[in-house]
Amino acid sequence: MAEYDVIVLGDSCVDLIVNGADVVPEFGQVEKLVDNYTLEMGGSCCIFAAQAAKLGLRVGILGRVGDDAFGALLLQRLKEAGVDTQHMVVDPVLKTGLTIHLTQPGDRAMLTHPGSLNALTPAEVTDSFLASARHIHYGSLFLHTGLLPEWTGIIKRAKSFGLTVSLDTNWDPDDRWEAGITEALPLIDIFLPNEQEALRIARLNHLEEAVAYLRKRVNILALKRGSDGANVYQGDQQGQCAVEAAVAGGDGIGAGDSFDAGFVSAWLRGLPINQCLEIACLCGRSVAGQIGGFRGQPLINDIALFQ
Ligand SMILES: Nc1ncnc2c1ncn2[C@@H]1O[C@H](COP(=O)(O)OP(=O)(O)O)[C@@H](O)[C@H]1O
Ligand SMILES: [Mg+2]
Repeated sequence: MAEYDVIVLGDSCVDLIVNGADVVPEFGQVEKLVDNYTLEMGGSCCIFAAQAAKLGLRVGILGRVGDDAFGALLLQRLKEAGVDTQHMVVDPVLKTGLTIHLTQPGDRAMLTHPGSLNALTPAEVTDSFLASARHIHYGSLFLHTGLLPEWTGIIKRAKSFGLTVSLDTNWDPDDRWEAGITEALPLIDIFLPNEQEALRIARLNHLEEAVAYLRKRVNILALKRGSDGANVYQGDQQGQCAVEAAVAGGDGIGAGDSFDAGFVSAWLRGLPINQCLEIACLCGRSVAGQIGGFRGQPLINDIALFQ
């Protein structure tokens, strides 16, 4: 039996979330007071790992953090969630990645220093790590710049060891959407884009066309639609899930990543895709109602469909 149900390649970073009515910095040494801040584990793959572990999966994460307080916070959160951190290395040469989110009602701006976020190299993703799991979730495709030139090779190796694969590219900061995604789609068991990402990846202007394009190429397409919920497609089957608006006061950070983990956790337990989608939406909505990507994540006992 494999050691892990799921493995991820860690995009290690923390989120410093600063919020208030006016969080726009003003140069000229102007000092503004803000309402609040929260320091939380960030990183799409890290948030995914935490949610999957909270849903009872055996989760392994490979990555590096800096030898600093942010790295310690990240490792602590992963452990709290039940993620196995034995493959996380503390690297004294690195700074742990940091994103500063300036959030005000209705919008946010981000400043990111990647640091440990994109430090992993393909040589570190060994065959023995890949072969230790049933499934690999690949996230932050474009931010993992150290892996990007080789990422399809990693997916192919994983498949050769019998793993199933899920992919959430997240946004491409260069807005180019290349890196061989089109060729890689047939290797993907569960593809998890949001609407904007689906349009970009399919290189089409209308969502219906993009869905038609993508569902022909991947096994399962789970399309995230923010407060409109999500849709799922597999072969001729399709389903949708509407969500009630998330509790006010949240910032949406990590909702998509926890959605992914909910879907994959349910799928690995053999649940039908409609139930996978329902569980995914429940995770996404719950996280969307809290600040940061960790606090709102439900535990397995919170989800009736898992009982
Ligand atoms: N404001 C919200 N209210 C309720 N549910 C939400 C909200 N935002 C996100 N969700 C849930 O989380 C899922 C993923 O969020 P979404 O914003 O679409 O993903 P991403 O963060 O990848 O763009 C949605 O499909 C939905 O189920
Ligand atoms: Mg996302």
